[in-house]
Amino acid sequence: MAVREIPSRPVVGVLHPGSMGAAVGSALKPRAGAVIWAAAGRSVTTSKRAELADLVGVADLAALARRADVIVSVCPPHAARDVAEQVAAALEGRDERPLYVDANAVSPDTVRGIGELLGAEHVVDGAIIGLPAWEPGPAVLWLSGAGAAEAAELFAGTPFPPRVLGAELGTASALKACFALQTKAVTALRLASAEAADRYGVVDALREELTRTGAGPLPDGASSRTVGKAWRFVGEMQEAAAALAAVDVPDGFSLAAAEVYRRLAAADSTDRANEWGLRG
Ligand SMILES: NC(=O)c1ccc[n+]([C@@H]2O[C@H](COP(=O)([O-])OP(=O)(O)OC[C@H]3O[C@@H](n4cnc5c(N)ncnc54)[C@H](OP(=O)(O)O)[C@@H]3O)[C@@H](O)[C@H]2O)c1
Repeated sequence: MAVREIPSRPVVGVLHPGSMGAAVGSALKPRAGAVIWAAAGRSVTTSKRAELADLVGVADLAALARRADVIVSVCPPHAARDVAEQVAAALEGRDERPLYVDANAVSPDTVRGIGELLGAEHVVDGAIIGLPAWEPGPAVLWLSGAGAAEAAELFAGTPFPPRVLGAELGTASALKACFALQTKAVTALRLASAEAADRYGVVDALREELTRTGAGPLPDGASSRTVGKAWRFVGEMQEAAAALAAVDVPDGFSLAAAEVYRRLAAADSTDRANEWGLRG
């Protein structure tokens, strides 16, 4: 299967314009002939974000896959494989394939599997670290794989400055998984500690000791930032667990973090009265 030559102003397809995808799409507008997104199945919120970012809507993922020279997948981690399968189905029987940048928080094995599906030479492993960026500063895009340099060229000078991490699929995702453990898994551990202290009736004493020893404030499980994203963190922590298990490092931390976020997300949709949101 031929590697599609990327024109100087490529058509870029973004799957999908969530908070991060809309920022990525907007960042690529100056470099692209057009940045397109697929409306079918997406919510009004996504549609509004795409409109605000001034992205061009096409009917569905199949139409996007046929038109795009480059596809950037930025979706919930648990959906990354499914999105890649839909793209593979849309490209069935075509001579050329777009460059496919999987920028999701998935395990190295997941991105390698996407490489097997679409052809490793067409897939770039991407890891966004930081917040949705509308100007340089809050985010960096780590890239690996055979096409990493080509993808880096596309992102150069945008609010997602690229850093090439090597020519193997999975390296960028490995970095993202390790980073996610240092941030989201540690946060989940602190939330679990706060919940246990609450159940034992020692939460005020724990807060006092954390302050006195300088260990940091007691985390707030009900903070809207964590609660609102908890559903997405479940898949990310499961992918991080797979990343650890693959190199024989204990994966229990990340699996427990996934369970903490699952309970937080469930509590968000059912019972906000529970302060920590972690009741099973
Ligand atoms: N936000 C951040 O701070 C941040 C930072 C670093 C990396 N990232 C990475 O960026 C990716 C997306 O994060 P985000 O913040 O943009 O999430 P988000 O705001 O929740 O957006 C997710 C997008 O994916 C779509 N989506 C939801 N469920 C889907 C499914 N089952 N299949 C396909 N698409 C689906 C959503 O569409 P509908 O809602 O319309 O269905 C929405 O457009 C994740 O892989 C994450 O790790 C995010």
